[in-house]
Amino acid sequence: METIRIPSIMKETSKRHLLRGKTIGFVPTMGALHEGHLSLVKRAKSENDIVVVSIFVNPTQFGPSEDFDRYPRDMEGDMEKLKREGVDILFMPDARSMYSDRFSTYITVKDLSDKLCGAFRHGHFTGVATVVCKLLNIVMPTRAYFGQKDFQQTVIIKRMTEDLNMNADLVICPTVRESDGLAMSSRNGYLSPEERRAATVIYRDILSASDLIKSGKSNPVDVKKQMHDMLKSEPLISEIQYAGVYNAETLDELNEFKKQNLLAIAVKIGNTRLIDNMLAEF
Ligand code: PAF
Repeated sequence: METIRIPSIMKETSKRHLLRGKTIGFVPTMGALHEGHLSLVKRAKSENDIVVVSIFVNPTQFGPSEDFDRYPRDMEGDMEKLKREGVDILFMPDARSMYSDRFSTYITVKDLSDKLCGAFRHGHFTGVATVVCKLLNIVMPTRAYFGQKDFQQTVIIKRMTEDLNMNADLVICPTVRESDGLAMSSRNGYLSPEERRAATVIYRDILSASDLIKSGKSNPVDVKKQMHDMLKSEPLISEIQYAGVYNAETLDELNEFKKQNLLAIAVKIGNTRLIDNMLAEF
């Protein structure tokens, strides 16, 4: 596995592969890799000639009171995992090479960025859209892979790539879960054993909301109430940021079911913020 730290060298390397007619699959990450990330890498491997993974803990997507400084970092472990998956190139820029002193261009996907997580993490999606745009411009992938776990992120990146006529095809891959259903996340490691046990309520809540939708005997208001009631029954949940039924394209809360409905939750357990979602058919 080749490691590249300098954006211009990454760009030249990609150009060389593309000129030779190779396809490039790209998995952008912030490191602390788990099976969720590796499922994206495996998919990219199966669909492309060359696989590039980036590890960059992007400072612009963290708010001032968020966990940028303590975000888990495990460079050695990550490199081992990527080598084992047969990744061709690890792109690992530092913050100065991504954001010069004069850096002043940011991308905001209006409308979508202030909803759901954006209402609680101001500026987060501007940071995400900006860094993903930069990474796509540097790596120039044929396909870029993202997890459905960060559903809002995928909707925003899709909008950005369409609006700005960007080239990469986006591939959204299913959420990978622990055996008890908890969606894999680098932040799960912040949870104490009691909090980790309590966190299982999130997926159970989404599953029973999905069952309620399928029963055909409810409406989004009932589903939202059931979701909130179940989350409130778990004493270790310190805050429910949102839980309910949303339009999967506009991310607006639904008054009546559509064929596809986005069930989405964001809660805090202690100080750890966890999100999950599922698409439920009516
Ligand atoms: O999903 C993530 O890990 C990050 O938001 C991403 C897409 C790598 C951008 O920093």
